[in-house]
Amino acid sequence: MNPNAVYQKCIHADCGATCDVGDVHVACPVCGELLDVVYDWSKLPVPARLADFAARWAGRANPLDFSGVWRFRELLNFCDDRCRVTLGEGQTLLTPNAGVGRYVGLKDGGLFLQYEGLNPSGSFKDNGMTAAFSHARLVGARRVACASTGNTSASLALYAAHAGMQSIVFVGSGRIAFGKLAQALDYGALTLQIAGDFDACMRRVKEAAKRLGLYLMNSVNPFRLEGQKTIMLRVLEALAWQAPDWIVVPGGNLGNSSAFGKAFGELKELGLIDRVPRLAVINAAGADTLDRLVNQKKLRWNGGQYDKAALAEDWAWQDRTHRLPHTIASAIEIARPVNAAKCLRALSICDGVVRSVSDAEILDAKAQVGRCGLGCEPASAASVAGARRLVEEGVIDRDARVVCILTGHALKDPDATVGYHTGRFAPGKEVEGPRNFANLPVQVDDDIDAICRAVGE
Ligand code: F0G
Repeated sequence: MNPNAVYQKCIHADCGATCDVGDVHVACPVCGELLDVVYDWSKLPVPARLADFAARWAGRANPLDFSGVWRFRELLNFCDDRCRVTLGEGQTLLTPNAGVGRYVGLKDGGLFLQYEGLNPSGSFKDNGMTAAFSHARLVGARRVACASTGNTSASLALYAAHAGMQSIVFVGSGRIAFGKLAQALDYGALTLQIAGDFDACMRRVKEAAKRLGLYLMNSVNPFRLEGQKTIMLRVLEALAWQAPDWIVVPGGNLGNSSAFGKAFGELKELGLIDRVPRLAVINAAGADTLDRLVNQKKLRWNGGQYDKAALAEDWAWQDRTHRLPHTIASAIEIARPVNAAKCLRALSICDGVVRSVSDAEILDAKAQVGRCGLGCEPASAASVAGARRLVEEGVIDRDARVVCILTGHALKDPDATVGYHTGRFAPGKEVEGPRNFANLPVQVDDDIDAICRAVGE
């Protein structure tokens, strides 16, 4: 047992090596597996009840109380206040949505949307970035880097600009939505467009980080996930600290799902909740690695003794068969999710399931979210499409309380939205399918009679 109150620890049960909180590693220095941030709760101040956190609302003039992440700081207590970097992230809402609930097939009042598009950079990534930047400040990092399908790079560039650090982002050339590219450029990131997909960028950024001593901000960084745990705390808070029956989340690099599982595991361990919700992780059909690993290859967490070789085998099979991911939900166009092992743990803690949904299902679900008054980018709508599938299958009961996580803002990817509604997708991004809720723009002459006819007299 490490004598410190907070330390890092390898997640594989056969290794379990530990290192200091102030060390910078993105993999176990002994065996190369993922690291966790681990707390010895007996040495840390933890509120007796989750409801005690609500008192922070009264102190909103303090930026750390205002932040929807740091408001829960006792549960991610790896640095002191001086290191904490915040932009007021996490002012996000859980709202019931009757229209989306009907679409998903739930009884009235059963469907809730957790809208993470309200974050400063427009996606859930800010929850993790605020935490990773705080660790970066703790260790004195000056240059920070990530590979990204777009949102991580936008968030990293924003927080780096705020924290006075230099940002370097690796994106697949032509692979990220314009809203996200625009953000990285505007926030001043050195933006490297690599001729390859996300998985290629990930490989390269790890190499570059090692060679150049860059601080790596992808979700292999365990501190990122600490911040993302708070999405679940806000969900619980909005439900008066009662766990819902299901959390449904899109799965790409699997950082979010991993963080959610860790949050519920810790809350249970601390006795702060007595029931853990079930977790559904939804892949896009064109990037369905987790679905294959869990449902076909039956890979399991197995008390931390997960089968490392099976993961390596799947990666090698992808190489041999030249299998490349392809989905309109570019944010989750990822074939080698770096957090696969931690996600297996989350599925074990939360009795989870995995499904994949087609691009046509994703875009229909996205149009429903928009029409029902929130709006989101394609990847986010995988959660709604996935919930619908699971209700159809009878895995989710019609009278269940279900929270779908909307991970990113609608304005992130206007091309996909306009493509869906007009049927004119960008080249290479065409989606086959019925486009059930397309809302075609109407061409009208510059003539008041024609306009009134179009409006419906
Ligand atoms: N939804 C959105 C909008 C995302 O941007 C991402 C990931 C996901 C879902 C998947 O989350 O990786 O935690 O499973 N985007 C990353 C990026 C990979 O680079 O922006 P995950």
